[in-house]
Amino acid sequence: MPRLAVALVWLYQGLWCKLLGRCPGHRAIVQAVPWLAGGAGTVVLAGLGTIEVGLAVWVLSGWRPRLAALAQTLLLVGMNGGGLLWGREHIADPGAMITQNLAFLTLAWLVAGRTAERGNTDATPWSRGRLDGRSGPPQLLFGRMHEDWRIEAAAFHPGSRIFCIASSGDTALALARSGFHVTAVDVNPAQIEYARARAAGARPGPGVVDRQQAMARRLLPWLGLRTRDLREFLLLSVPGEQMAFWHRRLDNLRLRLLLRIGLHKALLRLAHDRSFVSFVPPRFDLVILSRLERTWANHPNRENPYVWRLLLGEDPPAIEAEPAGGGNPGVEFLCADAAEYLASGPPCRFDGFTLSNILDAAPPAYGERLLAAVRHAAAPGAVLVLRSFGEPRDGQAAEWAARDRSPLWGSIEVNTAEHLHTRD
Ligand SMILES: C[S@@+](CC[C@H](N)C(=O)[O-])C[C@H]1O[C@@H](n2cnc3c(N)ncnc32)[C@H](O)[C@@H]1O
Repeated sequence: MPRLAVALVWLYQGLWCKLLGRCPGHRAIVQAVPWLAGGAGTVVLAGLGTIEVGLAVWVLSGWRPRLAALAQTLLLVGMNGGGLLWGREHIADPGAMITQNLAFLTLAWLVAGRTAERGNTDATPWSRGRLDGRSGPPQLLFGRMHEDWRIEAAAFHPGSRIFCIASSGDTALALARSGFHVTAVDVNPAQIEYARARAAGARPGPGVVDRQQAMARRLLPWLGLRTRDLREFLLLSVPGEQMAFWHRRLDNLRLRLLLRIGLHKALLRLAHDRSFVSFVPPRFDLVILSRLERTWANHPNRENPYVWRLLLGEDPPAIEAEPAGGGNPGVEFLCADAAEYLASGPPCRFDGFTLSNILDAAPPAYGERLLAAVRHAAAPGAVLVLRSFGEPRDGQAAEWAARDRSPLWGSIEVNTAEHLHTRD
């Protein structure tokens, strides 16, 4: 939007004022230049108008944005300087002209900076620490993780050195309490601060995503999913009974309609940056429904913390959801980009990597860089776990996803570092 605003200003100045001759002041100022009186002034006016229209197109294209901002600055300084020098009497309020143009140039440079950052195809959108794509300080996005740490515990060699994406710290802390040596990294400083506090004993609190889920849960009674029924459902522990209960009492038309609307990409885009919506599979509503059913069919609800948190926003009663241990289990939490951190350190220093689903929203060039960094940091035989919301590449990734007690994942790739490949 700001980019469009800058382009529109140039289009108005170039096309309307100069090429179509609708602003007589422009012509008067140009023709006030000593050697531009008469026909020469008309030609220069048309030339300037064409350059300004060209600038509008350039700004819109997003190509070399900082060079475009420099060109705008030079043109504006040149035109204003010339106007003040020779056409002073045609400028009603020079002070207003200068301050307005300064404000405009500030906007043009801000737009250039933002466009350059977006166009940097080697960077991940997670580095902004926000899901909404707006500028502002990084936010705490995740107060709890929706990733079943038992997948990692099964995939990694006991007691080995693990590189972990920190997020809210759940996986890192659970693995450390299970005897792994964990280094947990997150590009978002708000997540690292939060994860460190949790390692020191703080209770979990809500992040942006947790608040969104809490809002969605408030709608459930309106859809016929009463808290009492949900609790009864979650207390079941026989998959066959869970499936029957789900189909008989919970899976209804209103729920399906709400999922259809609420998970539509157009609606998701209202609150999320494009990159976070781009990887969502088509008909995400049906995809999520089938992943929910997969979870009811495979895992006893009663002791599944992920479905309790998802549907009721609370932990299962009297169930030990995570390994015992207590106290600070000694995870090293660091604020860094995963690819940069792994590439810049010594080789062969980790036996396992758990990368959450960080490649889901990242551009392919970032994926290549990250996997090269993983190969560099991987000890022989190191194992990598990579989740995705997307559909699985093969049966094995689908099987691992089905083993995860959290119903969200479409694919979990568990591979040795030597066999890594990016998702296309
Ligand atoms: C990928 S998100 C997904 C949430 C996750 N599935 C969960 O259940 O918490 C998890 C975390 O990864 C972090 N992250 C994303 N890309 C990263 C990167 N390249 N380097 C380090 N951290 C990253 C985000 O800041 C976020 O806190």
